[in-house]
Amino acid sequence: MKRHDIQLDSDGRLRHFLTIEGLKRDILTDILDTAENFATVGEQNVKKVPLLRGKTIVNLFFEPSTRTRTTFELAAKRLSADVLNININTSSTSKGESLLDMLHNLEAMHCDMFVVRHNQSGAAHFIAGHVAPHISVINAGDGSHAHPTQGMLDVFTIRRHKKDFTKLRVAIVGDILHSRVARSEIHALNILGVPEIRVIAPKTLIPSHAENLGVHVYHDMNEGLRDVDVVMMLRLQRERMQGAFLPSEEEYFRSYGLSREKLKLAKPDAIVMHPGPINRGVEIESSVADGPQSVILEQVTHGIAIRMAIMSMVLGRNPGGEIKEAV
Ligand code: CP
Repeated sequence: MKRHDIQLDSDGRLRHFLTIEGLKRDILTDILDTAENFATVGEQNVKKVPLLRGKTIVNLFFEPSTRTRTTFELAAKRLSADVLNININTSSTSKGESLLDMLHNLEAMHCDMFVVRHNQSGAAHFIAGHVAPHISVINAGDGSHAHPTQGMLDVFTIRRHKKDFTKLRVAIVGDILHSRVARSEIHALNILGVPEIRVIAPKTLIPSHAENLGVHVYHDMNEGLRDVDVVMMLRLQRERMQGAFLPSEEEYFRSYGLSREKLKLAKPDAIVMHPGPINRGVEIESSVADGPQSVILEQVTHGIAIRMAIMSMVLGRNPGGEIKEAV
């Protein structure tokens, strides 16, 4: 069985959401269309729909997070689910309880979904392989492997600005080697039919055999940015670097930081994206991060609709019509 097969039920519908790799275009389009239905819920007076009333969702974040954790919580609450946020530092794992024992105790409380962030690649798959059949697992980022809900909110943001994936040239710039976001974005863009995906980084921050991911590799940012429709900037993942990958942050910014001057090489209507957290002056100049081409805060807003879509599809296995009716 392939690693990604575990996330589909016998009818080919999502039972878990662990990785974008291997999913069919129909499923991705379904998620994007469903999120479109949820995008206005946050603008309503009562920011709630009753789709997951009576369901209990547990946020298990073993790594720090601002955007992902809070937007998962908001998304669950807007779907009327009950939400538990487990503080790992004050949980009984600090007294020696194993991860699986903790999960089995949460199962005994009749929870329905675990949203998991972990610094180990494969952690969400491992958990999905051990939970009771009624429990679904969502990967909120595992090591440098995958961050599938981030990948989906990124392509949702692109679709809102650019409409036709099959006409796009997309550049992903920065620490590709350690980035779970880059991997999930590359899978999503390839599945949705983007014909040209460029990755731009120093040799030390590109995975070996990167071309096998379906991308073109550039080491010169001035070449790589030429005529692209989308520029996705990435943070240097210092916490995943062991040893010296770069001379200095100043040198890195000069070669790979996005300045207003460099952005002029992209198409005039190019959008600038960043999954956050941003390190201003390291990978992106403030005037670009806050400038007219930036959609960085839109990405955060769209994270709620995308996570509502994925949670409702996984837990409710809802047909689109039911969601439309509820909104
Ligand atoms: N984009 C992202 O994963 O941000 P957080 O680490 O704040 O969740």
